[in-house]
Amino acid sequence: MRIILLGAPGAGKGTQAQFLMKKFGIPQISTGDMLRAAIKAGTEMGLAAKQVMDAGKLVSDDIIIGLVKERIAQEDCANGFLLDGFPRTIPQADAMKEAGVKVDHCIEFDVPDDVIVDRMGGRRVHPASGRVYHVVYNPPKNEGKDDDTGEDLIVRDDDKEATVRDRLAIYHDQTKPLVNYYQTAATEGLCEYHKLDGTKSVDVVSAELEQIVS
Ligand code: AP5
Ligand code: ZN
Repeated sequence: MRIILLGAPGAGKGTQAQFLMKKFGIPQISTGDMLRAAIKAGTEMGLAAKQVMDAGKLVSDDIIIGLVKERIAQEDCANGFLLDGFPRTIPQADAMKEAGVKVDHCIEFDVPDDVIVDRMGGRRVHPASGRVYHVVYNPPKNEGKDDDTGEDLIVRDDDKEATVRDRLAIYHDQTKPLVNYYQTAATEGLCEYHKLDGTKSVDVVSAELEQIVS
């Protein structure tokens, strides 16, 4: 099963990718997590990406397309994958098409900007696994600690309100056109398109996703 999770920053892509990965055993490919891993490893690409990400801008298509192509060629992706945060521009979507990567479901999470700003203020993440929490809406069992490992949770560098607003503006400008792109692909029979109300609770959204994917 090949799935694209499409939605604004903070719409719940990472949260639901973790649910789907556990439930169906499909690997999560989060370009954001891959970039944050490169930053942590101190690679040249990571250092360049950090400045762009902290400013709430997009990393260049060439770098991202290269990262994803390399990742989906790996063995664990043979039976499918969840794309979280990719594609995010029309050239990225075109590159996938040109590479012959077929998609079964494109799933859009619809969440208004104000809800997103509220969510980002309370987000906490476990960088090593990509697990995502919220201090109110999805709290960890022990405050500030990851449920599985007990390791510390952190606040992402790009979750400051001003940066979130910049990321939202870029989403509307560069990523939202993909809604039309994949809706058109669906009318051509190339994939299924689903739009979910991402303001519902984490569990309700998970249940709706389970219905779509099973
Ligand atoms: P990336 O890491 O992909 O960030 P993003 O797309 O901005 O999305 P987020 O991770 O912020 O949100 P999410 O939808 O995963 O929400 P989450 O589940 O965490 O990218 C970061 C940066 O990397 C980009 O800005 C860019 O610079 C670069 N980059 C990455 N990919 C790129 C690409 N393809 N091209 C170019 N540049 C790229 O949830 C958010 C919060 O809400 C959490 O606290 C969560 O617990 C809570 N929550 C989730 N669901 C619910 C719910 N239903 N109800 C209440 N709370 C909820
Ligand atoms: Zn995410």
